[in-house]
Amino acid sequence: MMEAFRNEPFTDFTVESHKQAFLDALSKVKAELGRDYGPVVGGRRVSTGRKQNSINPADIEQIVGVVEQADGKLAEQAILAAAEAFGTWQRVPPAVRARCLYKAAAILRRRKHEFSAWMVIEAGKSWVEADVDTAEAIDFMEFYGREAQRLAERQPLIRITGEDNELAYIPLGVGVVIPPWNFPLAILAGMTTSAIVCGNTVVLKPASATQVIGAKFMELLAEAGVPAGVVNYLPGSGGEVGDVLVDHPLTRFVSFTGSREVGLRINERAAKTNPGQRWMKRVVAEMGGKDTIVVDSDCDLDLAAEAITFSAFGFSGQKCSACSRVVALDEVYDSVLEKVSARARQLTVGQPADAAAYMGPVIDDKAYAKILSYIELGRVEGRIVTGGGKGDPRGYFIEPTVIADVSPEARIAQEEIFGPVVAFLKASTFEEAIEYANNTEYGLTGAVFSRNRMHLELARERFHVGNLYFNRKCTGALVGVHPFGGFNMSGTDSKAGGRDYLLLFSQAKLVSERL
Ligand code: NAD
Ligand code: ALA
Repeated sequence: MMEAFRNEPFTDFTVESHKQAFLDALSKVKAELGRDYGPVVGGRRVSTGRKQNSINPADIEQIVGVVEQADGKLAEQAILAAAEAFGTWQRVPPAVRARCLYKAAAILRRRKHEFSAWMVIEAGKSWVEADVDTAEAIDFMEFYGREAQRLAERQPLIRITGEDNELAYIPLGVGVVIPPWNFPLAILAGMTTSAIVCGNTVVLKPASATQVIGAKFMELLAEAGVPAGVVNYLPGSGGEVGDVLVDHPLTRFVSFTGSREVGLRINERAAKTNPGQRWMKRVVAEMGGKDTIVVDSDCDLDLAAEAITFSAFGFSGQKCSACSRVVALDEVYDSVLEKVSARARQLTVGQPADAAAYMGPVIDDKAYAKILSYIELGRVEGRIVTGGGKGDPRGYFIEPTVIADVSPEARIAQEEIFGPVVAFLKASTFEEAIEYANNTEYGLTGAVFSRNRMHLELARERFHVGNLYFNRKCTGALVGVHPFGGFNMSGTDSKAGGRDYLLLFSQAKLVSERL
């Protein structure tokens, strides 16, 4: 019997030995830069000859790894390899499948700083953000292993005389797993292992920017004893291999996390039945956010400013949960704006391999151009109070940016920017603040700072987001503690890290025997 689930503790880098261990991990990773990686199909590393460099966003001259890219033909082979492995993997007892996850978690715990160091170099995460990402990956595997064992127990049914009734959760089949780059280990590991622990086999298509971390995770799964073909690794452009994977008649489900645009495309394509297809495809799609923190007139303003700063600028605002809008009541608007701006000016933007850097770069040239264009728009739609500029030209650095006096309908108040930019909006009543908070098409996270019990209760009922937080930041959901997923155009509200999650990758079979 495994001990009860507990969240992996975060590393305290003020302890000298921890700091030294992380520096050692960074040295190890730096010595391995530029190595070759590529697709793994049916347990075999496939060479495609189509090499693509993965670069460090903080130092774009630095090559993190060279990754061979799959094409549509290999995508087809990967689906067939997964279908073949499903024949045996579906019969492996859930407890054994769970053991693979526990083993993978144990290896990851031993190599924690090494994996975090890869995220510092390939994704531009600060030490702290990378450490949190690795801890969450460990949590997902420990949690889903236990969940699979729980679902394998005899499920409670109403007993009737003369019949023996049993309900069992069985796997779906071949899944396509498409994670984003912003939690390159945690989300990739969580989406992959949740699917396989239920007995499914998968094709894992990593995000283009973080394919080396995906390859490292594949090595870890092999070391943990996950058999060949259960997870097939398919680095490749979303545009080139995505449709092949989603459209394939053997694909039974798609588990996607990423932008609204790609999620909706996948949802539409998966709804079409293709020749030879024998099921309706299931789509789990977790998408973007335009997350708001509401600051009431009676609240701890320093606490609010601290949480806003962390939620808006942690990992350069590149979290679906990031605070990109603050709605403050008239009476406290100027004060909270000044407190957040003052804090933002103090943040250290720099090379993430340096322990002192609070914020690193944004992920790539496209994100850099997009965020800067939103900042230009912010000059028209509002007033830049802090930031607005670029940083170190060696990478894609952008200053933490605060834009004041933005109207609720402005584009920078409506569209996901996914960078270190936060817009301030003013409301004259608490009800109006909640109305503004709800006026986007998204509905992922939100927070309210208030001492007024009636206002908190009003927000509890009316603030329409999947993850609502009171008097704390709107990022940093913990596995098992804050199951995570959004409403409306933020997705299917799958609640990753929650007790309902594995049901999405299973189907329930009822067997009734007359006695
Ligand atoms: P993205 O949509 O650009 O890419 C996500 C994944 O989809 C990548 O692996 C990409 O290669 C793949 N892809 C691209 N085109 C495809 C296609 N035509 N078919 C199939 N796959 C395709 O998103 P991103 O830039 O990687 O991630 C950022 C986005 O993810 C943001 O919108 C963010 O809010 C969202 N996100 C949401 C959550 C959540 O839990 N709701 C968590 C993290 C990130
Ligand atoms: N689960 C991540 C968070 O809550 C995205 O910040």
